[in-house]
Amino acid sequence: MKLNRRKVLMGGLAMAGMPRFAKAKDDGFLELAAFETQMQLVEGEYPKTAVWGFNGSVPGPLLGGVQGERMRVRLRNELTENTAVHWHGMRVKNAMDGVPGMTMQAVPPQGSFDYEISLRDAGTYWYHSHNRSLKQVSKGLYGIVVARESSPLDVDHDLVVVLDDWRLSPDAQITDDFGNMHDLSHAGRLGNYIHAVVDPLPTHFAANQRVRLRFVNTATDRIMPLALQGVEGWIVARDGMPLARPEAMDQITLGPAERVDAIVDVTAEAGGEVLLAFREGDQGYVLAETPVLAGARARRAPVEALPPNPITNITSVADARAVPMVMEGGAMGGLRGATFKGENMDMRALVQEGQVWAVNGVAGLPDAPLFEASLEETVVLNMQNDTAFPHAMHMHGTHFQEVLPDGSFGPHKDTVLMMRGEQRAFAFVADNPGKWLIHCHMLSHQTAGMKTWFKVS
Ligand code: C2O
Ligand code: CU
Repeated sequence: MKLNRRKVLMGGLAMAGMPRFAKAKDDGFLELAAFETQMQLVEGEYPKTAVWGFNGSVPGPLLGGVQGERMRVRLRNELTENTAVHWHGMRVKNAMDGVPGMTMQAVPPQGSFDYEISLRDAGTYWYHSHNRSLKQVSKGLYGIVVARESSPLDVDHDLVVVLDDWRLSPDAQITDDFGNMHDLSHAGRLGNYIHAVVDPLPTHFAANQRVRLRFVNTATDRIMPLALQGVEGWIVARDGMPLARPEAMDQITLGPAERVDAIVDVTAEAGGEVLLAFREGDQGYVLAETPVLAGARARRAPVEALPPNPITNITSVADARAVPMVMEGGAMGGLRGATFKGENMDMRALVQEGQVWAVNGVAGLPDAPLFEASLEETVVLNMQNDTAFPHAMHMHGTHFQEVLPDGSFGPHKDTVLMMRGEQRAFAFVADNPGKWLIHCHMLSHQTAGMKTWFKVS
């Protein structure tokens, strides 16, 4: 199919852009109903696309509020199959984590589930289906959560930029080929239509305005290299968590599920524009463009670090529990065999089960946890990517910090892109009791076996 990827932001009525959160009803619950709906995903003469959304839109309603607040969300399932919502990157209580079969029962059609979520950390998070997630997230069951800092930042716009990669047929419908063996065993379900939703959508920027951009990669499998034009700025947070020192922003690469918060100044002159592009080699596809008008402002001083979140910083891994995590399998990976559901299987048997990736020789979710940590113990995951593909390794329950070669620790992250052949270590304090997943957030790989879990008690 040939889809025009250049999407022009025509501008709605929204003026200054600050997040507008969905509102709870009188009983304190915000209703999140999952159902199929039609959406004008592709501009032009294309028909509407049948999607699965929350409250009739993709992304679903913007949830959140101010750090420290609590939100109550009632998920209602109006689909014809089970679903569940996971709060990606949020340090929630285990029972609220939204993992069917581990922390809750999947919500059946016509069923509902009440979540109570504390906004412990400021930053940019997201929610998505965690049941048959390759299919359900591909179809659109996701949305963004923003927890604002308790004292507002000095910015003129605060925008969410939601990136997705859709695999569409020539009539702009989501293709129904979820989990075919080629996708599962290679780089996943890559689409043919990369799309950005900017919320709220600005009609224009003014020269020297300061804009906070909250990038979220919701794609099931696509790594997104992004470039911006007409702005200069800093990355101030990754995966929701503030960086101790803002980094000068150049190109941004987001693996599936990763987020970056940037604060940028509009440096394009009046009459110019601000462009966001998906960059592949020396090709770029414009995802969003906003005209720049004259402004009275002078450029502000460089940004300062955001206030830190109340998460423990790793100071030493001297007494940590070390856990090896070897990722194996996939095409060209030479996986000879693995254990699946307690049985040793050769490659042929594994393929028949749709399982082609393994962690430490086990494909799929093992009965026994990868490790058990006691509360407040420091754990180091020694990840090793022995496959021919990158993986977006994600941990539930808390964030980890990379143990860097010089002995210092990287920023708090919940998802990290492990390139082929890489060996890297990640440390965290096991301070959230319960059963938590670790899996590849390339949801094709997760579906096909790259997942495990650990227990904190
Ligand atoms: Cu974003 Cu286990 O998920
Ligand atoms: Cu993977």
